[in-house]
Amino acid sequence: MQRTHRRPFAQRGLGYLTGLLVVFGAAGGGALAVQEKPYPIFTAEHFVPAMKTVGQAFAAVTASLGRNEFEDSKAYLVISRDRLATTITFWRDRKKDDAIMMLRNAVAKLDDLDAALSADKIDPAAVAASVKQVGAACEACHATYREQDPVTKAYKLKTGTIE
Ligand code: HEC
Repeated sequence: MQRTHRRPFAQRGLGYLTGLLVVFGAAGGGALAVQEKPYPIFTAEHFVPAMKTVGQAFAAVTASLGRNEFEDSKAYLVISRDRLATTITFWRDRKKDDAIMMLRNAVAKLDDLDAALSADKIDPAAVAASVKQVGAACEACHATYREQDPVTKAYKLKTGTIE
């Protein structure tokens, strides 16, 4: 399998992602099951690392797309999708219906990208358009619920949006 003979990849955290790849790769299309699994507590301390993983995995999607390594892109896409989907619990617990809608939309855009990457003949323009739509869907929620510390540049939940 080509994936196991991956070239050195200068991205930090790849070992971690590869580990996740194995775990989530096995889950495959079971993403919905993951989403429905009861998750007793989903605190901000859970949310931030989840979002970091989504960010790293999606960066790996776009990086591998740039190298036309579509199988890798799809594998990283599964991680992005599953990790993002599980964060729904965080918003549900806090009754943030607008965030839930934005989250569902982002997951749907990731699914569209997966469909574009699963075409018999991959259309680069369609893939690029789909990547853009994913980015816009992520950004929609970030604009409402995320803020960046001007000094440290660290991201966090926007003050006052979550009690
Ligand atoms: C429903 C809301 C929502 C959606 C959708 C969403 N995010 Fe986030 N994201 C947040 C919030 C809130 C934060 C700030 C808290 C944090 O840093 O984890 C955040 C933070 C981040 C961070 C910074 C993590 C850190 O702390 O360093 C990255 C990277 C990120 N998101 C990537 C993505 C990507 C990529 C997508 C789309 C595939 C996405 N997000 C979709 C809400 C969302």
